[in-house]
Amino acid sequence: MFLKTIIINLKKPPTILNQFLKETVNISSVYSEEVINERLSVLRVENGNGKNTFAEDVSLGLTSFPKGLHPKYFYDSPGSELFEQICKTPEYYVTRTEASILERYSEEIAQLNCDKKNIVELGSGSSIKTKYILGSFIRNSGSITYMPVDVSDIIVQSSKKLLDEFEGLSIKGIISEYEEGLEVINELIDSPKMILFLGSSIGNFTQYEASELLACISSIMNENDSFLIGFDLVKDIDVLNAAYDDSAGVTAKFNINILSRINKELGGNFDLSKFKHKAFFNTDFSRVEMHLESTKEQLVYMRDIDESIHFEEGETIHTENSYKFTDEMISELASFADLTVNKTWKDPENYFGLYLMKK
Ligand code: AVJ
Repeated sequence: MFLKTIIINLKKPPTILNQFLKETVNISSVYSEEVINERLSVLRVENGNGKNTFAEDVSLGLTSFPKGLHPKYFYDSPGSELFEQICKTPEYYVTRTEASILERYSEEIAQLNCDKKNIVELGSGSSIKTKYILGSFIRNSGSITYMPVDVSDIIVQSSKKLLDEFEGLSIKGIISEYEEGLEVINELIDSPKMILFLGSSIGNFTQYEASELLACISSIMNENDSFLIGFDLVKDIDVLNAAYDDSAGVTAKFNINILSRINKELGGNFDLSKFKHKAFFNTDFSRVEMHLESTKEQLVYMRDIDESIHFEEGETIHTENSYKFTDEMISELASFADLTVNKTWKDPENYFGLYLMKK
């Protein structure tokens, strides 16, 4: 195992640096590549974007009105484990339904894309879904390179398992936020490639953020590349409400876990028993919202950021939006990013859709 550091030039310089550096200076994103064996290497992209830390975002989010926290902070290790458990609840149809579509159609998807030797995946996803895709592509193309992009180190573990299972597979894992990861991919690999964004992860983004991300994906695509994205679809409101408020209370634990993360990482003194999980479909915005409701008037202190936060009884922290889509919303998003929907695959109940997009 050895480590080498590579400098690549970004097309778009990180905005924070931009103001301090002259145009003539090459602004670079630094990443280090760790070669684990001849089939597996991992690239770590430094966060060159001047993004906020957890402490800064918590401080901002809890001093705003209304209070809010970014859903990306759900996924510390207990949170990721709880998400896996959510996927096994009978009410949370999302993961299971998407997996069933992939199980049924990944052969067809692979045949339609049999020229692709490079598979990029944003968010490395649950291994079962990836396995259907990788299995079908390897059967059709012989050998492929899989490039999962994820902020988490989990990539290393899950990649090792995938390599044991699939001969003909090589993996270049990219530990990075999505946009920086996409820039690195653009520098590293040739077309034709297929980009995957599964699980309706796009649902956590606002309309603006979603179109920005799709535009970024589109900007690194050629005519012969393709993009496969999963969208959770608008459906019966009771089905939606139950999926985000399961009877075993797993989603409630997942939501409340963000407060124990603040306690652990920022020296907070949240009393978890004084907050209640709330989840409901907001028809006006076509999204399920999750909140944490303070059941009493209370004051919470966070030592590491030296901040006291006051809660009214009944006041909420908005912790997540999970948008639910219609075909119209999806084509609108696609066309904004200069993409067109080529083909779609859905389950028999139209709960979930996979959309194949092209430039
Ligand atoms: C991982 C963002 C797709 O919005 O359905 C599950 C997260 N939140 N239950 C979703 C989640 C509550 C999930 N995504």
